[in-house]
Amino acid sequence: MADVCLSKLNRLRGELTVPGDKSISHRAAIIAAISEGISVIKNYSTAIDCQTTLNCLRRLGADIRRSGQDLVVNGRGLRTLCEPDDVLDCGNSGTTMRLLCGLLAGQSFGTVLTGDASLRGRPMDRVIKPLNMNGANIYGRLNNRFAPLYVKGISLTDIAYHLPVASAQVKSAMLLAGLYANGKVEVVEPVASRDHTERMLEWCGVDIGRSENVISLGQKRQPVARQLRVPGDISSAAFLIALGLLVPDSRLVLKDVGINPTRTGILKVLKDMSANVTVENKRTVANEPVGDLHVRSSALKGVEIGGMLIPRVIDELPLIAVIATRATGRTVVKDAGELRVKESDRISAIVTELKKMGAAIEETADGFIVEGSTLLRGTNCDSHNDHRIAMALSVAGWIAEGKTTIDNVECVDISFPEFYKLVKQLI
Ligand code: S3P
Repeated sequence: MADVCLSKLNRLRGELTVPGDKSISHRAAIIAAISEGISVIKNYSTAIDCQTTLNCLRRLGADIRRSGQDLVVNGRGLRTLCEPDDVLDCGNSGTTMRLLCGLLAGQSFGTVLTGDASLRGRPMDRVIKPLNMNGANIYGRLNNRFAPLYVKGISLTDIAYHLPVASAQVKSAMLLAGLYANGKVEVVEPVASRDHTERMLEWCGVDIGRSENVISLGQKRQPVARQLRVPGDISSAAFLIALGLLVPDSRLVLKDVGINPTRTGILKVLKDMSANVTVENKRTVANEPVGDLHVRSSALKGVEIGGMLIPRVIDELPLIAVIATRATGRTVVKDAGELRVKESDRISAIVTELKKMGAAIEETADGFIVEGSTLLRGTNCDSHNDHRIAMALSVAGWIAEGKTTIDNVECVDISFPEFYKLVKQLI
């Protein structure tokens, strides 16, 4: 297993683009596979998770090729996927498994989905229950809660679901199943979660209604192929933004980053912490907002984060724990119990590892509390085999006194394989 050894950085300078957004890439591939016509997807994510989605779609009969840097998907419509001759391996990717549950619920064939040990331990009842309540036939281990799953395709009629907890994966699964339903489709979310599925379906001509937190599908449910460029991943950019803020005398420009308001909780939090981050050159690309982020080293102060903001910043919370160690005052994160069922228990993982580095951080049931203005000390840390924990700890290692080693960092490739190479370019 690979490890990295990091030491304090002095200043970072430069301009770069981050690779394509992981969430948008999953959706682009899935929707292209069931569209009518040839889709060209530029800047498709290099993340292993997104490759996993392509592998599963190919096993379902989708015609997906690479043409230079682009993906070319020859879609033949909603009803052209076919029964895979083997189990679909969703690897480490919760998004792949949950979105595919929705896509496959209304097919005329059955599919078995599995994944790695982490994914097989993550709750799948959050998609199985609502889909089955709406006529689907999905079975899972331990009383329909865990993968491996068997999705026995069946004809669907109406789909109606009020999500108890904001989850873009669950919402997207219901909407993808809804494309195959021949009745009314309506999904209500308690708080807005990332809306890439809705935007992508709209971009591909599907009749989708969106008012407040209610999403519905109209008559036209067959997506039409489009050309699109995936914006840079703000969740990957976040690690570079943090370095730009925390490493003294730094100045960075990150170009073409997705700034969808359902994802920019990190920018709001950083602004509240007094960070010098500005968004320039705002525009819309393939129905998604995009901009360039300008970052300068900043003196930060602690904040309280909770409530409606949480779904907009969920993936960045471990990183915020690291940032908070260098802010003056206290940072409190609450209402984030969902972090415990990500690729690892991210509350426990980040608190355990940052404590080893001397941080004043305490775990709570649904978040953590950090007393700021502490100097981190380099030590031996573990990634918990979770890409976002590995990268958050790397940021910690680059601002700590002395040397930090992080074990099992190959998991970074799950979302951001270029991470270490890009940071090197800025030194
Ligand atoms: C994602 C949704 C979020 C997020 C995950 C990606 C998506 O999960 O944490 O990294 O692409 O839909 P939940 O839907 O469980 O909140």
